[in-house]
Amino acid sequence: MNHRNAEYRYISVSPIAGALGAEIGGVNLAESLSSEVLSEIRRAYLENLVIFFRDQDITPDQQKSFARHFGELHINDFIPKLAGHDEIQIIAKEPHQKKNAGSTWHSDVTYKRKPALGSMLYAKELPPFGGDTMFANMYLAYETLSDGMKSMLQGLRAEHSAAENFARRAEEAKKTDGPGLGGFQYSEAAEQLATHPVIRTHPESGRHALFVNSVFTKKFEGMTEAESAPILSFLFDHIARPEFSCRFRWSDGAIAFWDNRCAQHLALNDYHGHRRFMNRVTILGDEPFMDLSRNTKAA
Ligand code: SIN
Repeated sequence: MNHRNAEYRYISVSPIAGALGAEIGGVNLAESLSSEVLSEIRRAYLENLVIFFRDQDITPDQQKSFARHFGELHINDFIPKLAGHDEIQIIAKEPHQKKNAGSTWHSDVTYKRKPALGSMLYAKELPPFGGDTMFANMYLAYETLSDGMKSMLQGLRAEHSAAENFARRAEEAKKTDGPGLGGFQYSEAAEQLATHPVIRTHPESGRHALFVNSVFTKKFEGMTEAESAPILSFLFDHIARPEFSCRFRWSDGAIAFWDNRCAQHLALNDYHGHRRFMNRVTILGDEPFMDLSRNTKAA
């Protein structure tokens, strides 16, 4: 049975691509949600890896309280915050700016010992065209590797760091791009290294997912960057295979909620001269682990 065709009683769930992603209907996030609705949303989230809600009109407090149903909220060390709401990050690109945030494939906050469980992005102001977000299924990325590659990766851990992406880039952006992305601030978190298994077992689904990303993963533990580079480069290309992905076209009031434990995402930067302004909330996750005794495939 394909989990993604499972039946729902309280919400509608319409997949938008073969690999991952579904639009959820019948939910107004400005209202308090019954336990039945929440449990179906949770199931749709686990089955589809990223879910989308359209036409929502919610306050920052409502965004935070919806996200809190899934876990404690993370306060980001680098990204500018919405005034009065430390848990809400501003993901913005102004008309004069050329760079955007998150333009290459990644999973959020993997530079921490406990990376993000999920992220919830709410569209506040959109460009007239472009600015879509793409998502990719890391279960499929793992499952489509050869047995030889899988067994080699199963024994490996990789080092993740925010130094390059946030700290150095914030400096660069300040000089070249003006405020906005330059609002990214330096944090001591840039000096920290986190090491994670290269293949991660999802704590809820039990499935294995590829867990390296081109923004934060620097090298394999116990190897040099030069030794790691050829395999990492192969994996970063593999992750980007179009058949593992879906692409979300934003509309006013849309929300995307993705599972960073088994999906990566990328923000397209194709709307120069226009403003894009989003509010993001990130939910704290647990320490990644690899458990070979658990199932590797969906039922
Ligand atoms: C991000 O969280 O990386 C930003 C995604 C987006 O702006 O579409």
